[in-house]
Amino acid sequence: MTAPLDQAAMQPPLKTVCKALAHDSAEKHVTGTAAYIDDMVEPTGTLHVVPGWIRQAVRGEVTALDLDDVRQSPGVVAVLTAADVPGTNDCSSAFGDDPVLADGDILFHGQVAFAVVAETRDQARRAAKKVKAEVTSIPPVLTQEDAVAAETTVLPDYQFRRGSPETGMNASQEIVSGSLRIGGQEHFYLEGQIAMAVPQEDGGMLVYSSTQHPTEIQHTVAKVLGVPDALVTAEVRRMGGGFGGKESQANQWASLAALAAHATGRACKIRLDRDDDMIMTGKRHDFRVDWKIGHDGTGKIRAVDMEFLSRCGYSVDLSLGVNDRTLFHADSSYFYPDAVIRSRRLKTDTVSNTAFRGFGGPQGMLAAERMIDAIAIKLGKDPLEIRKLNFYDGERNQTPFGMPVEEYEVMHHLIGQLEESSAYWQRREDVSAFNAENAVLKKGLALTPVKFGISFTLKHLNQAGALVHLYTDGSVHLNHGGTEMGQGLYQKVAQVVAEEFGITLDKVRITATNTSKVPNTGPTAASSGTDLNAMAAKLAAQEIKARITAFLCEQHQCGAEAIHFGDNKVIIGDQSFTLSEIAKQAHMARIQLSHAGFYATPGITWDRDTATGRPFYYFAFGGACAEVTIDTMTGEMTVDRVDILHDVGHSLNPAIDLGQIEGGFVQGMGWLTTEELVWDAQGRLRTHAPSTYKIPTASDIPEEFHVRLYEGTGNPQETIYRSKAVGEPPVMLANAVFCAITDAVASLAPGEVPDLDAPATPEAIMKAVHGMRARKAGQ
Ligand code: MTE
Ligand code: MOS
Repeated sequence: MTAPLDQAAMQPPLKTVCKALAHDSAEKHVTGTAAYIDDMVEPTGTLHVVPGWIRQAVRGEVTALDLDDVRQSPGVVAVLTAADVPGTNDCSSAFGDDPVLADGDILFHGQVAFAVVAETRDQARRAAKKVKAEVTSIPPVLTQEDAVAAETTVLPDYQFRRGSPETGMNASQEIVSGSLRIGGQEHFYLEGQIAMAVPQEDGGMLVYSSTQHPTEIQHTVAKVLGVPDALVTAEVRRMGGGFGGKESQANQWASLAALAAHATGRACKIRLDRDDDMIMTGKRHDFRVDWKIGHDGTGKIRAVDMEFLSRCGYSVDLSLGVNDRTLFHADSSYFYPDAVIRSRRLKTDTVSNTAFRGFGGPQGMLAAERMIDAIAIKLGKDPLEIRKLNFYDGERNQTPFGMPVEEYEVMHHLIGQLEESSAYWQRREDVSAFNAENAVLKKGLALTPVKFGISFTLKHLNQAGALVHLYTDGSVHLNHGGTEMGQGLYQKVAQVVAEEFGITLDKVRITATNTSKVPNTGPTAASSGTDLNAMAAKLAAQEIKARITAFLCEQHQCGAEAIHFGDNKVIIGDQSFTLSEIAKQAHMARIQLSHAGFYATPGITWDRDTATGRPFYYFAFGGACAEVTIDTMTGEMTVDRVDILHDVGHSLNPAIDLGQIEGGFVQGMGWLTTEELVWDAQGRLRTHAPSTYKIPTASDIPEEFHVRLYEGTGNPQETIYRSKAVGEPPVMLANAVFCAITDAVASLAPGEVPDLDAPATPEAIMKAVHGMRARKAGQ
């Protein structure tokens, strides 16, 4: 009997891909030699642009705008207003409702009304403060409640409905309901928004922008200047962080730099001051979620009714996709037999909220976890028991939008392994014992799942291009449409290309993303950068290799199986050549050694109008177990221990993936615990600097922090080396921290659901603690 062929054993061992190699810029990052836009040598005569705003205005009509003093201020070369826009005064991605410069009306506190162009940045900043303006004052719509009362929305309501939630609710043994507020989040990228525009011949414009979406920068600048797309080139080598905040929100600054360059004929650079950046750019959407859930008396969910009220701000921006993704993740990992999940996209007179790592998903999932916690607390059961009872499985595996959760077994295995490795049940006993002995300090424990859909839900964005050149010395020039924001995309794609050519990484030259090399790209977002661009680059490299192989087969009168690329060499039968020798021969034979690869994700069929189809190519899974201690006298909280198990399929680079998981978790933890955005009653953001807005620091990383990659069989879909996307899903691992805090507060009054909103700051914890004590007293 012949043994079945072991396919894996027949593959040549991987040399470069799936290895824990350092980020291509790691050394440059830590030695300060990685070049960001502000590090680039400025062309002679570069001018500096500062956005000007009317500090007293919140919402109203501009009745007088006196810029004389601004114009006469030292060093000022030009002052631009809406009247100076030669094309269209709009920098929105799609809906036409984001003025580059305010035109007649101020729509929110911090809106850019004019731009100062001066010899130095300091001169421009001083001049911008000299504006005199009068603005009428319309009472602003600020909160969800204001917007509901005023009936203002940026987009129509939308919902998923499955079965009959009304009947399901009636058939339920028990119904639990509540309302959860979830705060927004400032991106706090280390490199703020920045752009430099350099005028070219014949009206062309070269724009360096810290953007996740160079193609949109190109389109927007062309639209604002009123020139064809072909006259504008956008380029970005790297961002110092984007996190979604540079997906659409880089447009305005690139537009202002280009407008200034157009007006003055000189290179112009804009770099936002941190306070301006925080005041003028959109953030994660904040929500109020009103929920009702019916179960069968044991905790098994029968019916769900959720309403997500999100604050979108003054314009649409990316609110359609963000709020849709909230609905797509309102199930977390749980089967809802009958459900209605509603979304209201409220318009408020505040900055326009935008993409932020998870793109609305984290808010949907957090609401689901709150519902599960509430069921468990009311039943006096462990929340993990209720979670597992409601997990998708072989029969109950349809999401509320009709897509099956095919890999439910991965979810079960992963959570099961984590349950063991974190010693959940033993620690549950320890936590209970601790709480019985301690009156002031209380511990909480939670283990929560992550299931995140991978693909843009806007179907056409799921495509990518790459441009690969093999030079005659055997070195490779690599370019693709994805952008590098620290996540390691360039490195992963370079590893894939090196593997394909059988060359070492030092032979691959990584180059800046540029719209004149790879056109018509989507944003680097939705965690799909590697899935899309690495595949396009692989296809490009494969094509070049195929041409060389065909040439060699003819030359050497052999079959393709006799030819191997590896170790910077090409082996033909028993002969060995350097890749450089072969590249030269192919070139002499007039073989094209350059190719543009293209990839479009297969199998996605989402139709939003009918809310049917398959929006995601696959799901990425994960789980986190968090233990916290709260001080019921002060509201202080510490995260004592976190265990994470996360599914990245077959990792393309375990070192980078672990970095993404740790970073994503800590960023999510910041969102849910310390990062609080405070607007005053006049609609002014009061937390516009690190002095008042607290992001996590190195010391906030849990004392005990165990992070591991789930070892499974790889992505069942044919993704690049069967890997899975990793950029956003880990943010939602932080739900475990929020649920653990809920658990700690819940220990104060058994059976009572804490009135704890996100972020769980010390103040929010104190409020919830007082609420519990009051309820206990009344029990
Ligand atoms: N990691 C770093 N270091 N910096 C970032 O700005 N952005 C996140 C994530 N990880 C980000 C990051 C977001 S919001 C997304 S969508 C993905 O990276 C985008 O990159 P990818 O598609 O290549 O994963
Ligand atoms: Mo990420 S929020 O999709 O840029």
